[in-house]
Parts: sequence; structure tokens; C-alpha cells
Amino acid sequence: MTEAILKHRVGLLDAVPRGEGRVFEVAGQRLAVFRTHGDQVFATQEHCPHLGGPLADGLIDRGTVICPLHDRTYDLRSGAGVNTECQVRTYPASVGADGAIVVEVGQD
Ligand code: FES
Repeated sequence: MTEAILKHRVGLLDAVPRGEGRVFEVAGQRLAVFRTHGDQVFATQEHCPHLGGPLADGLIDRGTVICPLHDRTYDLRSGAGVNTECQVRTYPASVGADGAIVVEVGQD
């Protein structure tokens, strides 16, 4: 069975300060949504796969997020670990013409 992908407005861009992340509930899942200093947005799973650190509280730097607990670093586009074999799930995210952050999440 093919998973349907739905676009969800999660809030206005200004709800996430530049260079930070925030947690939003999207389609029944809690996701970390990040805004770069250049106003790009990214979305990942909420918790670090290492020991559950809060990724939205991590530092973002050059397209990566650094988990605040033990500094494992993940690429925000691919979810691949930069300094770890762990990886995070990512979700396509964008900013709509109305200034809202849109995240694409699969539905069964
Ligand atoms: S919980 Fe994220 S690096 Fe350990």
C-alpha cells in the first residue's frame, strides 16, 4: 500500500526564531521544526535516536542540528548522522506564500 503524503500548515514562520527549533504537533506526531538564519525551514523527528535528546533545543549550523545532550550531529536535509551512525527521520518543509510553515507528513 502506498503512503499518502499530506501537507500540513504548522504555524507562521515567526513562531520559530531564526537559528532555533520548536516542537509542533503535526498529524498526531510531534516534530522538531527548525528555521535557519536564512529563513530555510526543516523538520525532523522530535527526539534524538541516541538517547532521546530534544532535537528542537539543539544548535543548528550549516544545515545540521547538534543534539544538546551528547553532540551527535544530523544533516537536516537527509537526516544522516554526521558524526554518528544514528540517523533521524526528516520531513519535507517549506514556507508558503502566506508565511506559514508547511510540513509534509505521510498518512497510512
Ligand atoms: S541523546 Fe542526542 S546525542 Fe545523545
